[in-house]
Amino acid sequence: MQDDIQKRRHEYTLKQLNEQDVDTSPFVQFDIWFKMALDANLTDANALTLATVNSEGKPTARILLLKDYSNDGYCFFTNYKSKKGEDLKQNPFGAMVFFWPDLEKQIRIEGRIERLSPEQSDEYFMVRPVGSRRAAAASPQSSILKNRRELEQAINDFKNKFGDNFKRPSYWGGYRLIPEKFEFWQGRENRLNDRIEFVLENGKWNFYRLAP
Ligand SMILES: Cc1cc2nc3c(=O)[nH]c(=O)nc-3n(C[C@H](O)[C@H](O)[C@H](O)COP(=O)(O)O)c2cc1C
Repeated sequence: MQDDIQKRRHEYTLKQLNEQDVDTSPFVQFDIWFKMALDANLTDANALTLATVNSEGKPTARILLLKDYSNDGYCFFTNYKSKKGEDLKQNPFGAMVFFWPDLEKQIRIEGRIERLSPEQSDEYFMVRPVGSRRAAAASPQSSILKNRRELEQAINDFKNKFGDNFKRPSYWGGYRLIPEKFEFWQGRENRLNDRIEFVLENGKWNFYRLAP
């Protein structure tokens, strides 16, 4: 056993999450915590882990960046032909996790995932710098490459063919996770962490305290 890992201990002492402090809307509560993470100038404060599950019930998780959110859902952008894109075609449900260690906070969100409209994807595509637009368009995300050169060649070929003016390809765009469940986690001393779960019941968001 790796003694040094087992002995690592971090006590969570910064904050509490009490029933009377939590907003009755999980969307508002998310907004409050997300803005805290942004205000704290954390690196990649908008990074989240997204888990998807394929048709055989096997999960895959990866980090993505949150690019928009509202009461309609939580949005990210990617290649529709990627592993996650294939998973979502077979099983349109996913789970997101945000973890901000410096704030001792975690948020989990679960729900159905659907594609954004082509117009919404176009709008965000055009906001990206040209280099990342080109990478999104020319990189066959999650396909096997022979080597790094093959990728660089694909980018160069794309540049020679289309220059800097090209539209969003149909295989790249946004998704929105429409929440059915949220959990707000605040680390506390001796692992007696606060966990408040929101569940959508008969069209109303109710919340419960969960044991840590
Ligand atoms: C900090 C960070 C941010 C990332 N943001 C994105 C993103 O917004 N969209 C995306 O498609 N991949 C993003 N990635 C790469 C993914 O983690 C992953 O490698 C890629 O989407 C392919 O995943 P898949 O094969 O499971 O589909 C990011 C990785 C890291 C570490």
